Amino acid sequence: MAKLLPLLLLFLISFAAAPSCSGKRIPKALRNAIKPIGRTIWKIWKDDHRGPGSNVQSTGVLQTQLYASGGSFLMELAIGTPTIQYLPIMDTSSDLIWTQCRPCLQCFSQPTPLYYPSQSSTYVPLPCSNASDCSYFYTYSDSSFTQGALGTETFTFGSAAVSGVAFGCGNNNSGDFVNSSGIVGMGRGSWSLVSQLGYGNFSYCLTYDDPDTSRLLLGTMSTLSAQAQSTPFVTNPSLYFPSSYYLSLLGITVGETMLPIPSTTFSIAADGTGGLIIDSVATLTMLVDPAYAELKRAFESQMNLSAADGSAYGLDICFTYGGEELQVPSLVFHFEGADMDLPPENYIEADSSVGLLCVAVVRSDFNLSIFGNFMQQNMHVRYDLVGERLSFEAAPCDQLM
Ligand SMILES: *[C@@H]1O[C@H](CO)[C@@H](O)[C@H](O)[C@H]1NC(C)=O
Ligand SMILES: *[C@@H]1O[C@H](CO)[C@@H](O)[C@H](O)[C@H]1NC(C)=O
Ligand SMILES: *[C@@H]1O[C@H](CO)[C@@H](O)[C@H](O)[C@H]1NC(C)=O
Ligand SMILES: *[C@@H]1O[C@H](CO)[C@@H](O)[C@H](O)[C@H]1NC(C)=O
Ligand SMILES: *[C@@H]1O[C@H](CO)[C@@H](O)[C@H](O)[C@H]1NC(C)=O
Ligand SMILES: *[C@@H]1O[C@H](CO)[C@@H](O)[C@H](O)[C@H]1NC(C)=O
Repeated sequence: MAKLLPLLLLFLISFAAAPSCSGKRIPKALRNAIKPIGRTIWKIWKDDHRGPGSNVQSTGVLQTQLYASGGSFLMELAIGTPTIQYLPIMDTSSDLIWTQCRPCLQCFSQPTPLYYPSQSSTYVPLPCSNASDCSYFYTYSDSSFTQGALGTETFTFGSAAVSGVAFGCGNNNSGDFVNSSGIVGMGRGSWSLVSQLGYGNFSYCLTYDDPDTSRLLLGTMSTLSAQAQSTPFVTNPSLYFPSSYYLSLLGITVGETMLPIPSTTFSIAADGTGGLIIDSVATLTMLVDPAYAELKRAFESQMNLSAADGSAYGLDICFTYGGEELQVPSLVFHFEGADMDLPPENYIEADSSVGLLCVAVVRSDFNLSIFGNFMQQNMHVRYDLVGERLSFEAAPCDQLM
């Protein structure tokens, strides 16, 4: 089965001109492609801190907007009393909530004012018996890190204030945090926002269409219909990526071809390696071999275009493209209990001005497959932490109020 590539796509997603050529900004979709991994995953801090406790006071549903930035999504929040704006990355693969704090030993430039704990009446240092007990060091897989002191604060979502949220006040922070002011971890561990709130569910609906904003809902049964599909989360028994949401991916179909790969390609091995996680930070989907090699082969044999070099954009499955209307092979991810039949906008990037059409999937060379946020566009994606299931349904995320 082939799908017609909508012409609209060509206007929505365009490859960047060389930065020196013009003031045209680099489309997000492409910037991501250049840095596909993003700052996901593993934390190296010694988890001998007590849990954050349950000081959180909050009522009802929380809702906020998300903005695409550098291939990830920033949450619109406020921190402290009086409030100052806080634009952290939403990260479903880590736990800690943190922002940069004055006094700064080392800080990156951020879009919002720097938070100063001594000027907030609601900042409380986390109780600790000695200084090393309240300090933290948290690092991500691209070796970016944040270091500082743990405390609790009031975070404000729209008009709803949530007090007593444990977070890291980072005086020493380094890395490419895509023009954010920190990270809000939404992972499975006890320090994440969702765990601290004690809500059993959250959902988001992502769009890259500028200037539309995406949506995040915490603690609500969002409006998924009976047509929504769902697939169970899988538990990784080992210590690898303990924050992440693993899914059971059984296979992939490109056009008419079910990729000929072993059924264990995406399983978690006894030692905890392998598996597939759904991630909000990584832009592109990354697949381990042999799935990646077979997917590339399938696209190359089914696209009626000649293969081209997309390495300048960090992409590998690319074709020469002159802007003509054409058919692209369909792409279906077969999750346990749920087939995700993706619209072309969720896996094709094309720009006739640079003569390229590429598939937004790259090879994972670190024994873990990642289902990135580009493929999650224009879907309601709901994490049910009580039922341990992910549900999804196509939705016009740009049109949600
Ligand atoms: C910041 O943390 C890094 C990593 O722990 C350390 O090497 C560096 O010396 C620290 N910088 C300052 C100014 O404390
Ligand atoms: C960072 O974000 C701010 C506000 O969202 C924006 O005004 C600014 O242009 C951004 N800077 C970069 C380098 O993207
Ligand atoms: C600080 O507190 C932690 C946890 O209570 C303890 O393990 C550590 O030995 C203490 N360090 C010092 C220097 O007292
Ligand atoms: C989602 O979370 C909210 C807040 O905890 C709760 O009231 C609601 O029942 C949850 N829905 C489901 C389906 O778990
Ligand atoms: C490729 O071209 C062949 C022959 O022209 C045609 O049968 C097939 O449908 C085309 N495939 C796609 C995906 O457009
Ligand atoms: C990936 O994990 C499997 C299972 O533990 C192991 O056999 C294999 O060597 C690993 N591959 C890489 C590249 O680390």
